[in-house]
Amino acid sequence: MEYDQDARPDRAIGIVGVSAPDNATRHDGAIVRIALAGLLAPRKTLPPSLFYDEEGCRLFYEITKLPEYYLTRTEFRLLETTAPEVAALLPVGTTLVEYGASDETKAGMLLRQTAASGTSVFGAYIPIDIAGPALAAMRDRMAEGNPGLTVLPVTADFLQPVVLPARTGEIAIMGFFPGSTIGNLEPEAAVAFLRRARATLGLDARFLLGFDICRDPGQLLPAYDDAAGITARFNRNLLVRLNRETGATFDLAGFAHRAIWNEAESRIEMHLVSLRAAAVTLGGQTIRFAPDETIHTENSYKYAPPRMRAMVEAAGWTRRDTWTDPDGLFAIWLLD
Ligand code: AVI
Repeated sequence: MEYDQDARPDRAIGIVGVSAPDNATRHDGAIVRIALAGLLAPRKTLPPSLFYDEEGCRLFYEITKLPEYYLTRTEFRLLETTAPEVAALLPVGTTLVEYGASDETKAGMLLRQTAASGTSVFGAYIPIDIAGPALAAMRDRMAEGNPGLTVLPVTADFLQPVVLPARTGEIAIMGFFPGSTIGNLEPEAAVAFLRRARATLGLDARFLLGFDICRDPGQLLPAYDDAAGITARFNRNLLVRLNRETGATFDLAGFAHRAIWNEAESRIEMHLVSLRAAAVTLGGQTIRFAPDETIHTENSYKYAPPRMRAMVEAAGWTRRDTWTDPDGLFAIWLLD
C-alpha cells in the first residue's frame, strides 16, 4: 500500500493563533508576540508551530518522503498489520477519535476495517484539529467514500480540554494519536495530554498511540539532517516566514540548520545557528546574536519503551498490546 503523510502537523501539535495569509503585508501581532517571547529569552527559542505555513507544510510533506526520514513510512507499514488486529479487538459500532487529524490517511486504514459479518467496525469518526476548514473538507471527502460512517469534526486545540459532540448508538470508543507527534511535546505535557484524553474518552476507552523508538543517534540524526537539505530548508523557512509576516530583518545567509542529539534528554533538537554576530529587528525590538548562538526551534523526543510505559501509566492508561517494525524503529501501542 502507498503511504501518505501527516500533511499538517501544525494542526497535530495543536498550537493556535499563528496562521496568517501567505502574502501578508500587514504584520501579524500574534506572531510578533510569540516570536519575541522566544527571541528575547536568555536562551533563544521559536515554537515549532511556526514551521507550518504553506511552504512549511509543503517541505514537511517532502521530509516524509525522504529516504532518511523513516518515521512516516515505517508507521504506515506497521499500520497495515496493526489496523486489522486492533479492529478485531473492537466491537462493531466503535467511535474513532483522532487527535491532530491533519488528514484521514492513517485513520482511513482503521476505518476501512470490517467485522467477519462484513459490517464496518467503526460507526463514527471524530477528527479533532485546530484547522476548521481542513476538517470540513475532510468530512466532505469522507462522506463520499464512506456512506455508513458518521463524521463529526471538532475544531479545537487538543492541548486544551476538548468537548466531544453528542452521539447516539456508540458501543465503544478509541482515541488515536499517530505520527510520533507525542515526541514534539515536552514529556510532562505528553503525560498531561494522555491524562486529559482519558478523561475525555472515558475509563472504558482504548487509545492507539504511535511513537518513534529511542536508538543509536547515528541512525536518528540523518532523519533530521538529510543529504538533500530539505530539513534545513524546513527549519530556515521559519526565518523566511518571520521576515514576511512580521517585517523581521533576518539575513537568511547568516543562519544555518543544526540538528543535535541531546543524550541526557533523549531528544533530537533542531536549532538555527547564527554564523556571525548579528542584530535583527522584529516588532520594534532589536535581537542580538553572538557568533554560533542558536535559536532552538524543535524537540523530537525518542522514547525507550519502558519510559513510554511509565508515562502512559502515569496518565492512567494500561498497555494492552504492542506492535513494532522488524527493525525496532517505531511502535504502535494499544492502551486501555
Ligand atoms: C511532526 N513531527 C512528528 C516531526 C518529527 O519528526 O518530530 C517534525 C519534524 N521535524 C523535522 N523533521 C520532522
